[in-house]
Amino acid sequence: MLKILNIVGARPNFMKIAPIVREMARRGDEFQPLIVHTGQHYDEAMSDSFFRDLGIPKPDYHLEIGSHSHAVQTAKIMTAFEPIVLQEKPDWVLVVGDVNSTIACALVCAKLNIKIAHVEAGLRSRDRTMPEEINRILTDAISDLLLTTSEDADENLKAEGVSGDKIKFVGNVMIDSLFYNLEKAKTLKVRENLNLDGKDYAVLTLHRPSNVDEKEVFGGLLEAVAAISEEMPVIFPAHPRTKANIARFGFAALLESSNIKLIEPLGYLDFMNLYASAKIVLTDSGGLQEETTALSIPCLTLRENTERPITISHGTNVLVGTNPQKIKNAAFEILNNQSAVDKKIPPLWDGHAAERICNALINQAA
Ligand code: UD1
Repeated sequence: MLKILNIVGARPNFMKIAPIVREMARRGDEFQPLIVHTGQHYDEAMSDSFFRDLGIPKPDYHLEIGSHSHAVQTAKIMTAFEPIVLQEKPDWVLVVGDVNSTIACALVCAKLNIKIAHVEAGLRSRDRTMPEEINRILTDAISDLLLTTSEDADENLKAEGVSGDKIKFVGNVMIDSLFYNLEKAKTLKVRENLNLDGKDYAVLTLHRPSNVDEKEVFGGLLEAVAAISEEMPVIFPAHPRTKANIARFGFAALLESSNIKLIEPLGYLDFMNLYASAKIVLTDSGGLQEETTALSIPCLTLRENTERPITISHGTNVLVGTNPQKIKNAAFEILNNQSAVDKKIPPLWDGHAAERICNALINQAA
């Protein structure tokens, strides 16, 4: 029986941990899963609604850390997590993704000689100005089991000197959650409530500091999206950081004069209801690049790089950058040429990654 502490902290963690914990609970003779929520995200819309939508059990431990600078947030998570590890003495700690909670909890375990499994290992944007890239590199360097979503990640890890017996290509567990919840999400009334049923529309999400923290960059992106919104409405559920910067930079008037509809962040199922029927998605999110690829929905990534190149080579993603003219050109090319969507799905994005993750933990422990 393996006792596993499963770590979640921020919004993109919840849909990755849900299928893993469900599979561990199903295999109760092999696993004793516990959940630790660091509280990196804490708003109802950023946290609790995801627990409900995804059916994640109540956390066994809630660290209630909240928002701080990177150093303070990481340090507070480490300080609060260490006594839990000492008390629980888990066989493994399982961390997902690339947020501050991921590296904070992994680092605690590395110092205590507790084994770490990293789900979504090996992704690299090669942009060290991104906090997530630092979190990925460091977490992978100290993990004992590196569970990857695509084979390019295996190559990245090997190139960094990680021994092959630590790496296991298991596929994409976020897509487990997507397929598990899609039919239910389709029955919801989000599109209807936004008056979009049967209509063409686009979806926009932006939250990267590099896109929304500088007035000129953020303004340029909104200018491009406003031009696209002349073609069809653009629905823009805004992250708290993004919303705060819209107010700070005085962009409300620009949004109101366009056909961009700013709304509150949506829950997991509500958001799926929205993007699953979009004509095009424009985003700087990592997860959404993958979700649109899994559903063959055209996606424009408004960043200069991506740690998820598989969504370009085996999916619908186009890396377009932040130049407003390039964004408009790429969007209109896609919107004028809908039939050309390529319906490829990357290997092992099949809804069964959680089973393979559990098998890998058992095999590695043997
Ligand atoms: C974090 C992750 C990022 C992920 C994103 C998804 C890191 C380094 N970054 O960035 O990889 O893509 O989550 O959302 O871990 N806030 C609230 N309510 C909340 C949480 C945050 O209002 O529940 C506000 C706070 O003002 C906070 C700001 O949002 O200062 C940013 O939150 P933070 O967790 O620091 O980073 P994210 O930008 O959300």
